[in-house]
Order: sequence, then C-alpha cells, then structure tokens
Amino acid sequence: MSAAPKEKEKTSDKLWGGRFDRAPDEVFYQFQRSFSFDRRLLPFELAVDRVWAGALVSAGILSIEEMRDTLTALDKIAERAANEPAWLDASPAEDVHHFVETALVEYLGPLGFKLHTGRSRNELVATDFRMFVKQSVRETRAALTRLIGALVTQAERVLGIPMPGMTHMQHAQPILFSHFLLAHAEAFFRDTERLAAAAATADACPMGSGALAGCALDVDRGAIARELGFARPTANSLDAASDRDFALDYLYALSVIATHLSRLAEDFVLFASQEFGFIVLPDEFSTGSSLMPQKKNPDAWELLRGKTGRVTASLHTLLTTLKGLPSSYQRDLQEDKEPVFAAHDQAVAMLTIAAGAVAATRPNEARMRAAASDPALLATEAAHYLVRRGAPFRQAHEITGQIVREAERTGTSFAALPLETLQKFSPLFAADFYDALKLESALAGPDVQGGTAPARVREAVAAANLRLAALEQKS
Ligand code: ARG
Repeated sequence: MSAAPKEKEKTSDKLWGGRFDRAPDEVFYQFQRSFSFDRRLLPFELAVDRVWAGALVSAGILSIEEMRDTLTALDKIAERAANEPAWLDASPAEDVHHFVETALVEYLGPLGFKLHTGRSRNELVATDFRMFVKQSVRETRAALTRLIGALVTQAERVLGIPMPGMTHMQHAQPILFSHFLLAHAEAFFRDTERLAAAAATADACPMGSGALAGCALDVDRGAIARELGFARPTANSLDAASDRDFALDYLYALSVIATHLSRLAEDFVLFASQEFGFIVLPDEFSTGSSLMPQKKNPDAWELLRGKTGRVTASLHTLLTTLKGLPSSYQRDLQEDKEPVFAAHDQAVAMLTIAAGAVAATRPNEARMRAAASDPALLATEAAHYLVRRGAPFRQAHEITGQIVREAERTGTSFAALPLETLQKFSPLFAADFYDALKLESALAGPDVQGGTAPARVREAVAAANLRLAALEQKS
C-alpha cells in the first residue's frame, strides 16, 4: 500500500479515479473543468439519461424497479436544477456528466453509479451537443422568420417609392425601395435553408457508440435514436466520437446570417446619413451624442455590423480546434461548445434587434424620389431607346456615353440637351426621346420575374408572404 488512503480518497469523487495514485493538481483540475459552460447541456443530458435507463433494462443491467428509481431521481435533479441555480453554481463537478452522476448517487446511493454502464462521456457529449444544435436551429429560425416578416411588411407598406439602384456605390438604374428590401429578405430566406441543412447533419444519434468502438451491451440503437427525437443512429462509432461537422454547419449558417445582417446594417447606416437621407432612424433603436445635441446615431445597425465578427470568429475558432486532430475523441473537443453557444446567443439577439429596427424605420420618400430622378440613372434607358430605333447595343452605348460627356462639358444633363445637339451624335434621336427618359418607364422596363417593375414587385411581395406563412408554421 504505497498510496496514502487520504490521497486515494481525493480521486474517488471523480469519474475516473481508480488507476490514479494521487489527486490532480488543483489548478489543473479547475483548468480542465467544463461545467461552467456545459451545464447548459443539462436538459439534453437528462433526456439521454432517461432513455439510457430504459436501454439498460432491455440489456439486463437494471431491474424495472431500479429504472423507476433512476427516473424519479432524474426528475428530481431536473426540478432542483431549474429552481435552484445556486446548486449548480456551488457544484465542484468536472462537467455536466459528472454533475448528474454525483447527483444520482446523492439521491440513490450506489444505484446512481449504474446508469453509466456501457456508455462513455464521449458519446454523451456528442449526443447532448447535437440535441442542443437541433433546438438552437429552431430558435434561430423563429428569430429569422420575424426579421423576414419585418422586411416583407415594410416592403408592402412602401410599395411605389423609387430609389437609385447602385453598383460600386454609384448611381446605376432606378429601382423600387421595396425591391431593395425584398433583396435582403431573399438572402434571409436562403439562410433558413442553411439552418435546415445544419439541423439535418445534427440529426443522427451517437448513443451506443461507446467511447469509440461501439457498445458491448445489447442495446437497440435505432430505438434510442427515435426516443431522443433523432432521425437515425450515427453509422460509425469512431466517426461519432470525432464528428463535429454539425457544429461547423450550424456556425457556418450563423456566420452567413451575421454577414447578411452586416450588409443590411451597412445599407441602413448609409441611407440614414445626411448625404443620403433615404430613411428616418427610429428613436427606439438610435442613441444621441453626449456632446452634439443634433445627433441621432444608427447605433443598432452599427452594433449589428460590429458584432458580426464575433459570429464569424466562432466558425474560425472551431475550425482551428478541429484542424489537425486525429480520429476519435480528443480532449481538445471540449473547446467545441463555447463558440457555438456564443454564436447562437449573439445571432438570435442580432436578428431580434434587426427585426425591431426594420419595422420601426420610416422611408423619406421625397429624398429617395429626388435621388432616383437623377437623369444619369436613365442613361441605360437612352441606350435602349437607340436600340429600339435599330442601333446595335455597343454603338448605342457609345453614343449615349458621348451625349453624357457633352452634357457634363456644358454643365447640364443629357436629358436637357436640345434635339439638334443630340442629332449631331446620332440621327436616330427624335422628339419622342424625352418621353422615353421618364423614371416611371425606366422602372416599368425590367418587367421580368425577379425584376423591379412595380407589378413584379407586387407579385414578389405576395410570394414572399406565402413563403413566410410556410416558415411560420414550422416555427
Ligand atoms: N467535458 C468533456 C467534453 O466536453 C466530456 C467528454 C470527456 N471525455 C473524456 N474522454 N475525457 O468534451
């Protein structure tokens, strides 16, 4: 007996004390704990435990009575954890799995140790985490649906208001403000598909994979998966221990959502500036300056743009953790949860703020209409006029460029050049040219599915409302 009994005692409260002579270094023990964050997985851990208790009855490990006692104890743990957060705060548990086992032993005595028969924390943590991702996808989809709803409602409310469409931040062609709002809605609609893809990769249950080789007990993996709400059991026990693709997929979906939010934010920050003045910032989502009394700042949008990096950084964090890991479970994998929790919380908060800010924003119709009436936006119309009169497009483009330059040289707009001047550049110009340069006809021109013609945008609003209703049913 070389090990002092006192030292041996120190390890006996761990999940793995047997082969150790000495207790772990206290600083290291604290360093390797994950309970401060993985306690968030407790509801999923308890759900898995309930199903595993049943599996142990089928495998002949637990009697029916022992299973009942175990389930009652699990219920008590769930209730106490919900009502008494201090219980968790005070626990010295290593992780959420250790916490539950310790609590079971507290309630059941030695029977509490039986539940961990035939299973490993490696599969438990992967199962809990997959369940977390599946639930989180539902929460994010609900928040995303509310934002899409705000954009579509706003698009419907402002139907008919023109604005300058831009590329390279230069006036390009007139579009409807509703078309612009629906463009953002379209990006967020696509995000719902990426979320669904992440939920689908998460939808396989690792339980029964053991530590890496599979479970030595006679358990029905298909039944366990079904009872836990999974579509299927995972196909390979070694892969099940290593696989965090579902977390990457979710982080990627969140990163794209955040990137879309950042683009929306940048547009709104610009549009709210004095130079644009296209929108009126809502008081509820803006703040003032402590020095300059006139200021109303687009803080909500700036913070949304600013927080995007946190979400995309989480994806990089997990990719970096996974890069270079060998197959199977490695303790590095404990680093998988915090970036996902953080990105999820951040994305849901961002979506909620964006939905509120979009709904409360008002358009400045006069400013948008004035900007959209810049004749430069009608140069494409001028070229199309020449094309309708028989000019090849390349030549029509060239001639229009020349009259734009001539107008610039003489300090006017090409739409104001007299007919005689225009005819010096091409005999195809006639008196009806000026009618072709109306904002309304430019807007009505792109009359194709997905174009900005008012009738098409009205159709797009109706279609978006239908898709939204389908999403709302899922949420
Ligand atoms: N706390 C661990 C984690 O989050 C649980 C799995 C521990 N497994 C192990 N073999 N040490 O990854």
